[in-house]
Amino acid sequence: MLETLKNQKLQKWIHEIVELTEPARVHLCDGSEEENRTLCEEMVKNGTFVHLNEAKRAGSFLALSNPDDVARVEGRTFICSEKEIDAGPTNNWRAPKEMQDELNTLFKGCMRGRTLYVIPFSMGPLGSDIAHIGIELTDSPYVVCNMRIMTRMGQAVLDLLGDEGEFIPCLHSVGRPLKVGEKDVPWPCNPKQTHIVHFPEKRSIWSFGSGYGGNALLGKKCFALRIASVMARDEGWMAEHMLIVGVTNPEGKKKYFAAAFPSACGKTNLAMLQSQLPGWKIECVGDDIAWMKVGKDGRLYAINPEAGFFGVAPGTSAKSNPNALASCSKNSIFTNVALTPEGDVWWEGMTKETPPQLTDWHGNPWTPGGDVRAAHPNSRFTAPANQCPVIDSAWEDPAGVPISAIIFGGRRGSLIPLVYEAFDWNHGTYLGCSVSSEMTAAAAGQIGKLRHDPFAMLPFCGYNMGDYFNHWLSIGKQTTPDKLPKVFSVNWFRKSPDGKFIWPGFGENVRVLKWIFERTEGEEHAEKTPIGYLPEQGALDLDGLHLPQEDVHTLFQIDQTAWLGEVQEMRDYLSQFAERLPQGISDQLDQLEKRLKNG
Ligand code: GTP
Ligand code: SPV
Ligand code: MN
Repeated sequence: MLETLKNQKLQKWIHEIVELTEPARVHLCDGSEEENRTLCEEMVKNGTFVHLNEAKRAGSFLALSNPDDVARVEGRTFICSEKEIDAGPTNNWRAPKEMQDELNTLFKGCMRGRTLYVIPFSMGPLGSDIAHIGIELTDSPYVVCNMRIMTRMGQAVLDLLGDEGEFIPCLHSVGRPLKVGEKDVPWPCNPKQTHIVHFPEKRSIWSFGSGYGGNALLGKKCFALRIASVMARDEGWMAEHMLIVGVTNPEGKKKYFAAAFPSACGKTNLAMLQSQLPGWKIECVGDDIAWMKVGKDGRLYAINPEAGFFGVAPGTSAKSNPNALASCSKNSIFTNVALTPEGDVWWEGMTKETPPQLTDWHGNPWTPGGDVRAAHPNSRFTAPANQCPVIDSAWEDPAGVPISAIIFGGRRGSLIPLVYEAFDWNHGTYLGCSVSSEMTAAAAGQIGKLRHDPFAMLPFCGYNMGDYFNHWLSIGKQTTPDKLPKVFSVNWFRKSPDGKFIWPGFGENVRVLKWIFERTEGEEHAEKTPIGYLPEQGALDLDGLHLPQEDVHTLFQIDQTAWLGEVQEMRDYLSQFAERLPQGISDQLDQLEKRLKNG
C-alpha cells in the first residue's frame, strides 16, 4: 500500500516509524465515507464507541475516555528548541537530543498489535497559499475519525502533496501496545507516561500516551498553534488562539472580528452567537484558531485552519448556543458526555430539566441529586463546521477575511470592565500581554485559580513568549495604523458580591459587538480613561435588558488602587522575560501607571 506513495520523504519517514513502533498493520487513510464507517463499526465492536440513536443523532457516536485522560496536560507538554531561552520561561523545555532519546525508548514497539493509520491532512482550505499540510501517524482509530471532522483529510491531500511537497510530521501513539491475543480496552492510553513534544526547529511533533483532544488531534494545538506560531514568527504572519466572527449591522454592512479567550472562556459561544439585537447578524468563520497575514492592501486577513469544532459540551443549550447544538445534531462524535436511555447525549446545562435517568461519563447509572456530574466538565463534541447554521459564506475563502477588530478576554470575577478599547496597536499588544483568567477544566490543573495567560496563548506558544510579544509589535509595523484592526478587551465574567455573573452574556454579548462595530466605523461614543476608551454613558445598547443601575456601574467601574496593584503584578510577571521583554511593552506599562497616577 505504501508503495503507492509518491512522496519519497513521506515514504521514508513512515518506514522509519514502522520500524520503531512495530505496528501489526499500516493503513493509509483516504478519508472516504466507507473508511469512516468501517472504523466506527470497529470501535463500536471494541467498546470505544457507542452508536447513538440514528433517529435522534444520525451518524453520531459517544466515546467515554479513561478517567485519567480527560484534558490537555500542560505539565507534560514540551517545547524542545535547541536553546532553552528560545522556549522561554513559560514553556517546559528539554534538550532535543535528550528528549529524542527518551521518546525513542517510549515509542519502541509501542504500536504492537495495533494498526498504524497514516492521516494526510490540510490545515486551511486545500491549496490555499496560507494552508499547510501535515501527516499524522497514529495507532488510534478515534483520532482518525476526529481528524476527519476537524481537518480536510484524505486522498486529496496526498494528491496535493505530490512527489516533492512539504509536510509537518506528527507522530501519535496511545502508548499501550497489545500482547498477542490480548483484548483491547475501550480507551487505551498511558497517562503516567504522557509526553506531548514539539521540536520547533525541526517542525515535528511526537505525542505519546493520551488519546484526548489537543493531546492527540495533532493538527489542532500542536501544529496549528505551537509549531505554526514558530513558522509565523519566522515568516511574518500570525497563528493565534482566536475565533473569527462576521458581524453585519442592520444597514447590511459587514465586518469581521477575531477574539482570543483562554480555553473554555467563550470562543465557540461568541463565534456563533444568536443575536439578541434586531437587525444584527452574526456568522461564524472559526471558533478556536486563526492564521492571519497582512494582505497586499495592508489589511490583516484571517483564515480558520480547521474544518470542525471541538467544542465544550457543558453549558451548551438551545438558549445559550443553539447554533452549536445544531452543528452537532448529526455526524458528530461526543466524548465524556452522559448517555440517555433513548441513546442520545446529555450534559449539565443542556436542558432545564435533568433527565431522571442517565449513564454518566464513567459509564455508571446516574440519577439527579447526587454530587457527581453526569458529563465531565471538559466533555466535548466534535462536529463538522459546515453543519453550523450560521457558518459564514467566506469561511473557506483561501484569501481569508479582513479583520477590523481584535478582542481579548478572560474569566475575571473583578477588576476588568465589560469592554474597553486600546489607544493604538502597541497598547492593544499590551492588552494581549495582560490577559489573565481563572483556570477551567480544559487543562489538568487548579480550576478557578487566576493565572496569566497572555493572548490566551500560554499553553500554545511554541517559542519564547517575550519574542512573541515582540512579534506582535512588529506586525504593527507591517502596515499603516489606519489599516490595523482596533484592539479591545472584554470580560463577560464579572461577578457581584454574592457570586453571580452580572452580565447576562451569550446572545446578549452582541451588544458589546455592536459598540465595537461602531468604534471601528470611527464613531465616537467613547470616553477616554487611564486604561483605554470606555463606552460613554448610554453608548452601549442596554435597551430591554433591565440591568440595575448599580450593576451597570460595577461593569464599568475602574478602581484606581486595584489597577495600580494590577500594574505592579504585571511588572512582576513580565520581569521573568528579562532581556526578551520588548522595550515597547515596558513602555506601555510605564505609560499605564502614569495615566493611572494622574487619574
Ligand atoms: P475552548 O474550546 O476550550 O478553547 O473553549 P472556548 O473558548 O471556545 O469556550 P466555550 O465557548 O466553549 O465556553 C466555555 C464555557 O463558558 C461554556 O460552559 C459556556 O457555557 C461558558 N460561556 C461562554 N460564553 C459565556 C458568557 O457570555 N457568559 C457566561 N457566563 N458563560 C459563558
Ligand atoms: C482548548 O483547550 O483550548 C481546546 C480544547 O480548544 S483542546 O483541543 O483539547 O486543546
Ligand atoms: Mn481552544
